Amino acid sequence: MSNPQFWAVVPAAGVGERMQADKPKQYLLLNGQTVIEHTLQRLAAHPDIAGIIVAISPNDDWWPSISVSLDCPLHVVEGGAHRADSVLNGLMILSEYLDDDPWVLVHDAARPCLRVTDIDKMLTSLSEHDVGGILGVLVNDTVKRTNLNNEIMESVDRRNLWRAATPQMFRLRQLKQGLETAFSQQMTVTDEASAIELMGLSPMMVEGHSDNIKITVPEDLALASWFLQQQGEA
Ligand code: C5P
Repeated sequence: MSNPQFWAVVPAAGVGERMQADKPKQYLLLNGQTVIEHTLQRLAAHPDIAGIIVAISPNDDWWPSISVSLDCPLHVVEGGAHRADSVLNGLMILSEYLDDDPWVLVHDAARPCLRVTDIDKMLTSLSEHDVGGILGVLVNDTVKRTNLNNEIMESVDRRNLWRAATPQMFRLRQLKQGLETAFSQQMTVTDEASAIELMGLSPMMVEGHSDNIKITVPEDLALASWFLQQQGEA
């Protein structure tokens, strides 16, 4: 591997139970291609992404049938039991092969509508930052907190409330250390920023487009299809 500045790590080892499909959601068809093919192509379309590491489940029978032709190298690692394990496996292989400390953009395989302009916005906003940051979207609904009986306890002030998305962009060695520390403390982290926050650091929030949805439930596929069409992809 060469020594580039920006790498992508794509966790793709989930089963996607909430889709109730016969295969993991990243292999469902979306406008003629699988979800993961769209995702990998979006990342590879940015000229500064030097390569992609994709984490695939050891029980994955679908990956071999994917034929994706990208403008950057693609390496496969084994995924783990949780998303963070899959990400850490990707980071470990990168840190083994790279001597320097590139930025790493972790991006969910299940987010195929990521705009290349949003990748560009992240790189421009964060590449001089000390810590890094994530793409997110401001919450625009009224937000309520309930008790265990679903009784509304309060309306939460939504100013400065964001929905965290991906990519999440951090320095390779700091992110690896953050995830390893979270594991050793048995802390559950559902995104990379949480691991960085546990280290007492403050990642930046970069406002992205709301069409960067994570395919989770069946109706998301139709929405993603429409978003891709709106973005100019057949
Ligand atoms: O399940 P969820 O939608 O939150 O997963 C987000 C991303 O993490 C998906 O791309 C999924 O394939 C990936 N993942 C993984 N390894 C796991 C669980 C999820 O790579 N064990």
